[in-house]
Amino acid sequence: MGRDVIVACDFSSAGETLAFLDMFREKKPFVKIGMELFYAEGPSIVRQIKERGHKIFLDLKLHDIPNTVKKAMAVLARLDVDLCNVHAAGTKEMMAAALEGLTRPDGTRPLLIAVTQLTSTDQSSLENDLMIHAPMAQVVTHYAKTARDAGLDGVVCSPLEAEKVHASCGKAFLTVTPGVRFAEGDMGDQKRVMTPAQAKNVGSDYIVVGRPITAAADPVAAYSRCVSEFVD
Ligand code: C5P
Repeated sequence: MGRDVIVACDFSSAGETLAFLDMFREKKPFVKIGMELFYAEGPSIVRQIKERGHKIFLDLKLHDIPNTVKKAMAVLARLDVDLCNVHAAGTKEMMAAALEGLTRPDGTRPLLIAVTQLTSTDQSSLENDLMIHAPMAQVVTHYAKTARDAGLDGVVCSPLEAEKVHASCGKAFLTVTPGVRFAEGDMGDQKRVMTPAQAKNVGSDYIVVGRPITAAADPVAAYSRCVSEFVD
């Protein structure tokens, strides 16, 4: 899969999500399903969106003991998602188990990426809540290297970290980056943002874009603009 725009479908029901996706007649966007929608609608929402021809990033951020994560991943592999994720904080052993669980009997598997540090975690919460006393950039790079050593395909990170991750883990290691806004757009609750064109320049492989598309007056036009700035 090459560079692409992933649309974060942060809706709370299947009805709302499918009505939104109905607007896209030409190119079927790569869709991100998060916890809210998945917990509300269950695996059937994944099947319904897949049947409509979309690729799916199932963003459930698994983090548990290795055996539990391995078994959960086997279920996601059967759901035929294209991309899924775990927390790197679950350790290299947990990530390796996730990869094993995700691998189907015929050797194929969805892509697996790791969350390094959530973009809602800042240096002070890293130190005071998590007792991690290294600079954020160093923590993100270290977690990315651990994910790579476990055999994962990439990480979710801020576009501001994409270059550093590629420098330490190699160009082929995927960077999937939320925190994207149009130049004149509302930042919402995102603090560190880049435009789609800037994300392309720093080498992001996938951008995850939610409200700039879902809340736009014309979501299809907003999506096309993202694609033309980031992919074309
Ligand atoms: O609406 P917006 O473009 O901010 O949506 C970004 C999406 O990416 C949301 O679904 C959010 O949960 C997700 N995300 C994020 N930051 C992370 C990981 C995921 O914004 N570090």
